Amino acid sequence: MCGIVAYIGTKPARPLLIEGLKRLEYRGYDSAGLAIMNGGLHCARAVGRVSVLENKVDQLGGFDGSLGIAHTRWATHGSVTEANAHPHRDDKSGIAIVHNGIIENYASVRTLLTEKGHRFTSETDTEVLAMLIGELYDPANGFDLERTVQSALREVTGAYAIAVVCEHEPDTLVVARKGSPLMVGIGSGEYIVASDPSAIVAHTTQAFPLDDYNVVKLSRDGFRTSTVDNLPITPKVTQLELELEEIELGGYEHYMRKEIFEQPNALRNCFRGRLDHKEGKVVLGGLQAYAPQLVRSRRIILTAQGTALHAAMIGEYLLEELAKIPSEVEYASEFRYRNPIIEDGTVVVAVSQSGETADTLAALHEAKDRGALALGVINAVGSTISRETHAGVYLRVGPEIGVASTKAFTGQVAVLTMMTLFLARRRFMSTEASARLMIELDAIPEKMDRVLEQDAFIKSVTEKYIHRENWLFLGRGYNYPTAMEGALKLKEISYIHAEGMPAAEMKHGPIALIDEGMPVVFIANKGPQYDKVMSNIEEVRSRGGHVIAVATEGDQAIKHVAEDVLYVPEVADPLSPLLTVVPLQLMAYHAAVLRGHDVDKPRNLAKSVTVE
Ligand code: G6P
Repeated sequence: MCGIVAYIGTKPARPLLIEGLKRLEYRGYDSAGLAIMNGGLHCARAVGRVSVLENKVDQLGGFDGSLGIAHTRWATHGSVTEANAHPHRDDKSGIAIVHNGIIENYASVRTLLTEKGHRFTSETDTEVLAMLIGELYDPANGFDLERTVQSALREVTGAYAIAVVCEHEPDTLVVARKGSPLMVGIGSGEYIVASDPSAIVAHTTQAFPLDDYNVVKLSRDGFRTSTVDNLPITPKVTQLELELEEIELGGYEHYMRKEIFEQPNALRNCFRGRLDHKEGKVVLGGLQAYAPQLVRSRRIILTAQGTALHAAMIGEYLLEELAKIPSEVEYASEFRYRNPIIEDGTVVVAVSQSGETADTLAALHEAKDRGALALGVINAVGSTISRETHAGVYLRVGPEIGVASTKAFTGQVAVLTMMTLFLARRRFMSTEASARLMIELDAIPEKMDRVLEQDAFIKSVTEKYIHRENWLFLGRGYNYPTAMEGALKLKEISYIHAEGMPAAEMKHGPIALIDEGMPVVFIANKGPQYDKVMSNIEEVRSRGGHVIAVATEGDQAIKHVAEDVLYVPEVADPLSPLLTVVPLQLMAYHAAVLRGHDVDKPRNLAKSVTVE
């Protein structure tokens, strides 16, 4: 959600900022802008993609400095217009700012500033912050850009990652963070600041993340890190592990497609070194120190949003069935605001691809405040949630760029399965039972390859229903969350209305929607509830619905009741979502492409939602 990139060094800033914005475009893409110091500040903004901005800047000319800030926007305050795009400027002190997050008390600050004579040109909270910094800027009295930014930030509430420049200090860049991610990449004689490492890694692998309330003043000779209260702090510089190839398309048409096809290898990485077949034990270094406490846990609350929540729902079933620990799943946004009960022995697990989702982060804070042991199941290494949990497990599936989450989902399910076995084996599960599931787990990547081989067939099935505006996705047990995920994928990128639910729930209302030819996707793998699912299929057929079944290889009976069958290899029921979700991902992908949509940048969505 909104991408920031800023540069100070000796190279031309413009191509660097544009390239950085393109890498961050998945975070937000309704408008973009940049400001470059060249004599004065040269500023350009444009509605639409980064390429529109790039053309505009090329035509305007003059953007030739080596200090600049840039932004790609996902609208929160104010509609998508050029006036609301960043950078925002003040009307007094030559300030320009880019911002990710929400200034919650912007209305009262705006009123105060209006009384002082400032005139606003946008509807945004960010312009209010620009004006506030401009109003307080007073270098003659010690309020240079760094001090002024610190003072201004003490006046505001909400979330921010900002990069600020000032015409009167043409060799200074000030950046700060609270709530929204930001990191500083350290090159030789240059710094590149960005919302995530994908905009940094092409230039340097030395970087440090900002913590909440950190302010960094950067010049070409060095940097100074402090808190908003001006207390000096020492940043923890680390090596970025991201490889450039991981964030490139590498011959694929879309990131989503690339990431769907990466899943077998992503899971191989996820499992590597973690499955000790001999002992029938899962080895999770990140949890080891907490193992005794975890084994004794009395209740596990998994909290997440979006796709991660669907993975968490599968985690709940796994933990209860295999580890016999009472578990529940809750939307992080709900958990945070409803006075949740945390007792002795409650463990809260935050599941998040980005590790930056504001709702999930807020739930984590709530859980910690109430004394829970907080774990993370996170993909983005070094992200805020991963830093703030007591312990956790990384997915190790590589960066996910496509806005519609795919490999992170299977990675989350895989990690939750391993966490379950980690606990189950230490509680009641026998070595043999655990070893059996581990062998099955290990075989998943190869089975996934077999599902992916059916890509062309899955496309041809999707094509048959492409003009239908309403779809249902139904499943039971472990595949009820898979059905929800299948529906979410379809609506996110193809804008087709889809609902996912437990198959039995259909007859309690949604069955009214079924009419002649309505596509109804059933996850009908051979599991304990297969017969029940078959009955639900009949209920749909008798009302004219068209059944598309995801079924287990070798199941001939399903062919008599389903119009189309997408087969997946046989697998133990608790692991089945790792395979059954793949055809659903591919269906959604093809539906979106066939309808002519931009798969990687679906309308209104953002990859990482850093506002509550
Ligand atoms: C956004 C994305 C979803 C994602 C959700 C949670 O809504 O569009 O794809 O599932 O956030 O993201 P997280 O990074 O916490 O997994």
